[in-house]
Amino acid sequence: MKKKVAEMMNAQINKELYSAYLYLDFSNYFIEKGLAGLANWYRIQAMEERDHAMLFYDYMHHNNQKVTLEAIEKPTRDYNTPLEVLKTALGHEEYITASIDEIYGEAMSCKDYRSMQFLDWFVKEQGEEEANANDLITKMELFGNDPKSLYLLDAELGARVYTPPTLVVD
Ligand code: FEO
Repeated sequence: MKKKVAEMMNAQINKELYSAYLYLDFSNYFIEKGLAGLANWYRIQAMEERDHAMLFYDYMHHNNQKVTLEAIEKPTRDYNTPLEVLKTALGHEEYITASIDEIYGEAMSCKDYRSMQFLDWFVKEQGEEEANANDLITKMELFGNDPKSLYLLDAELGARVYTPPTLVVD
């Protein structure tokens, strides 16, 4: 693996772990607000982000690359409503998509076909993550101001169960 691709993947481990930390704090916020379903949704989201970090971690080790774990930034609560949380999530996913795309572009420019193949899963995953984040915003904008509808939306999100990633590094 080329040095620049390895450095970018190492940095991505930190970004994914920060994503997990950010979503855990969203879950924390929703528990405080009494919205257990949204809390469940983001708790599972946090687990998925940790999985993403571990996929990069495993891929690096599998390719005999040194992994350096850096400090994880503290999440800042610069939102005041559930809708603002969902919009923060979408903005964050767009940032992660751009980061994955940058690694992909670097892998492509140095003909690192193995890394491109590994990253293909993340390109697709980011499409799903952004679609889910957008979908939640649409639902919250439609129903969030009506307490009964918000209760039903929260119940729907409470039914989400964790599923491990379909990608395996071996
Ligand atoms: Fe790991 Fe939500 O991107």
